[in-house]
Amino acid sequence: MTDYATILVTRDDRVGLITLHRPKALNALNTELMNEVVSAATELDADAGIGAIVLTGSERAFAAGADIKEMSSQGYADVVNQQFFAAWDNLTRLRTPIIAAVTGYALGGGCELAMLCDFIIAGENAVFGQPEINLGVIPGIGGSQRLTRAVGKSKAMDMVLTGRQMKVDEAERSGLVSRVVPTDQALSTALDAAKTIAGKSALASAAAKDAVNRAFESSLAEGVRAERALFYATFATDDQTEGMAAFVEKREPNFTHR
Ligand code: HXC
Repeated sequence: MTDYATILVTRDDRVGLITLHRPKALNALNTELMNEVVSAATELDADAGIGAIVLTGSERAFAAGADIKEMSSQGYADVVNQQFFAAWDNLTRLRTPIIAAVTGYALGGGCELAMLCDFIIAGENAVFGQPEINLGVIPGIGGSQRLTRAVGKSKAMDMVLTGRQMKVDEAERSGLVSRVVPTDQALSTALDAAKTIAGKSALASAAAKDAVNRAFESSLAEGVRAERALFYATFATDDQTEGMAAFVEKREPNFTHR
């Protein structure tokens, strides 16, 4: 696999793992790191041998936000002309499920990056926040939208306007994270979940992910219509035939992702 400067990429069978690796800057997200994460995730997504991806950081920090040192000298024309950080949107186009394993700080762009993933498994030491307001700016990688959808308007307004941090209990209670586990088990739990997902039909996983995402992008009626079309489409796959035959024959399915 490609050599990267700011991330580590490994794979184990059908699971790809991307680890943010700028330890001296608490994994602050600079342009190089963004380009590397997007490139690695896109490469894993295109690999038919990969059925799920995990994105993680270090125990101390998933990511402490966009790199303030990189941003500090930028002006309006600079960020507009380079469409600063817009490439993170590419992660929303992955067909492969991607799980964030979050321990430590997930602040600003770090919180937004975790929310760009399909779901978040958090360690007990995880801390979430959108502190951009303290720097005279606002979230810029979808935080004002995804946090609001995840935790509701009142809590999102509170977080975005005060910049306060949210500990993991509150994050679980308010629906931001799917599971909280002991800090030293966050990555292994996410990898186990990824392995489970990667053992299903990749076509069904992609359809399921597409269907759930429609809930964020459409009315209820349109979302239900989209789900029905995707559901019907799964009946065109070999994996539907195999999955149902395996149940009837009381055996494990052998999905071929066709
Ligand atoms: C650049 C950062 C950084 C960041 C930490 N570091 N966060 N560098 N950008 N976002 C660096 C510090 O400068 C320091 O480097 C080293 O990491 C360790 O950080 P400390 O502050 O010494 O650690 P600690 O006292 O434990 O405090 C941890 C922290 C704090 C609470 C997470 O670092 C912090 O508040 N960071 C900024 C968080 C933030 O505001 N994030 C939002 C960014 S704006 P040196 O070299 O000094 O040792 C954003 C916008 C997104 O994300 C939208 C973009 C379009």
